[in-house]
Amino acid sequence: MIIITNSEAETIRAGEALGRELKPGDVVAIIGGLGAGKTAFTVGLAGGLRCAASVSSPTFTIVNEYPGSVPLYHFDLYRLAGEQELFGIGWDDYLGLGGVCAVEWADKAPGALPEGVIKVKIESLGGDSRSIEIQHTTQGDGSLVLQPPSHSVASDAF
Ligand SMILES: Nc1ncnc2c1ncn2[C@@H]1O[C@H](COP(=O)(O)OP(=O)(O)OP(=O)(O)O)[C@@H](O)[C@H]1O
Ligand SMILES: [Mg+2]
Repeated sequence: MIIITNSEAETIRAGEALGRELKPGDVVAIIGGLGAGKTAFTVGLAGGLRCAASVSSPTFTIVNEYPGSVPLYHFDLYRLAGEQELFGIGWDDYLGLGGVCAVEWADKAPGALPEGVIKVKIESLGGDSRSIEIQHTTQGDGSLVLQPPSHSVASDAF
């Protein structure tokens, strides 16, 4: 599925739409260049999961935790020295905590991503336009069915 957004608010709504469909244990790998909108999308994920705390960029800490009935673990791997550093902070433990893991710059640790990861690729189309491709790699029951975010421009994508 590809969603085109034309503002940060629309990207947040796209994240909310995905967040509402997530289940405990899901991992969302968010890939895109500097300033693409990865954190904005994650703000939406937290909203869709109804996490209470507000999302900020965990650039200096690798991971921030947002409590909720399904908590969100928000990783930013931009400054990751290597996959080993991620395993060193307990990546495998986070996967088993019953929350959702959202991982900005997930392409920095491809070997850490579990099977069934949901890939979100954000690309700038110039100005405030972004293309957001959501790809669910699980071969399983296909239970991830997304409702279009309200006011989505790309209504033909659904
Ligand atoms: N359609 C859009 N979607 C998301 N952000 C947008 C959009 N149009 C403009 N922006 C702007 O782009 C910036 C995106 O910032 P954000 O922190 O979400 O990006 P990021 O991918 O997390 O960056 P970083 O690589 O630094 O982590 C914000 O300043 C936001 O206002
Ligand atoms: Mg960011």
